[in-house]
Amino acid sequence: MKALILAGGTGSRLRPITYSMAKQLVPVANKPVIEYGIEAIAHAGVTDFGIIVGDTGPAVEKAVGDGSRWGIKITYIPQSAPLGLAHAVATAKPFLGDDDFVMYLGDNLIKSSVATLVKEFETHRPAATILLTPVPNPSDFGVAELENDRVVRLQEKPKDPKSNLALVGVYLFDKQIHDVIAVLKPSARGEYEITDAIQALVDNHLNVRSHIVEGWWKDTGTVDAMLEANRLILEDLEPSNDGAQDEHSRIEGRVRVGRGSIIENSVIRGPAVIGEGCLIKDSYIGPFTAIADHSRLVSTEIENSIVMNDCEIQDAPSRLASCLIGRGVTIRHQKGMPRTMQLVLGDSSSAALP
Ligand code: TTP
Repeated sequence: MKALILAGGTGSRLRPITYSMAKQLVPVANKPVIEYGIEAIAHAGVTDFGIIVGDTGPAVEKAVGDGSRWGIKITYIPQSAPLGLAHAVATAKPFLGDDDFVMYLGDNLIKSSVATLVKEFETHRPAATILLTPVPNPSDFGVAELENDRVVRLQEKPKDPKSNLALVGVYLFDKQIHDVIAVLKPSARGEYEITDAIQALVDNHLNVRSHIVEGWWKDTGTVDAMLEANRLILEDLEPSNDGAQDEHSRIEGRVRVGRGSIIENSVIRGPAVIGEGCLIKDSYIGPFTAIADHSRLVSTEIENSIVMNDCEIQDAPSRLASCLIGRGVTIRHQKGMPRTMQLVLGDSSSAALP
């Protein structure tokens, strides 16, 4: 069994963050989202990984490395253009050969065990196993229709969904998927859809198993989903404190503070994580907040947010909430008259002002 992680794509729903970074590298609880998937699959005993990359390939490779820290080997596979998940599989064919593989969307987070899925796949030897979860908005996803446990129909982002079971970003395939992808036509939106490829397996009377996921699953493709993923991971945070705090500061609940961070005259209410080398001064860090390395927050209140590394936030005039703040961002209060707001925002930025 090999692993194929998809870390190409456009990431248009996560702009402007994705103008300058791969969405799979956005930190969730201070760890790039892609690493959760790699760890889950490595934990299942898979050691031979391929990672599909696009324009952000060099950054993904620099951040993730050769896999030795997880005891796995990673091959990076450039995709010529983000032409769809089935196109990514076709691109990886020389790497995959005739082996079974688990495919994982690099911006997805799933809590259920991959090991159980791999074991089940090897016992039953279907052509494919797909994972499903009930969602309130099936039109935003690939959707499966079942008869008992049998998959009878798959549709990508249907206008009129026939079920509320969305495909989760983990799939297991044997080599037969390559035969159906070889003759696949692009969809109306111009992508080679993995749902169409799986539908072709069903149409060829091959065994496609489904599995309803236990525990949560999150596609982190949007800001709201990213913040929710951050909350879910922080729920399970193991507290630790390698920083320093003065006697005027209070740390409440499950909080992790990294090496070299300084907490002065501040309250941190967990679950929350502060990276290494941060300064938190005269501030309130509320629940479900992740502050990455070397960021400085002074006289600021913030909750339910992700702040990436090297940010500087000072004297924010009201509490910041539900923010996704990229690397090296500066936010400060402009004192004196006139009382204006100066915003320097990149394309597709959004700001909600009080
Ligand atoms: P999506 O989130 O469906 O697509 P996207 O990255 O283009 O995002 P958006 O819709 O916001 O523009 O992709 C799921 C995962 O698969 C994600 O990690 C990117 C990856 N991917 C590829 O590697 N190659 C591709 O051709 C596509 C479409 C996605």
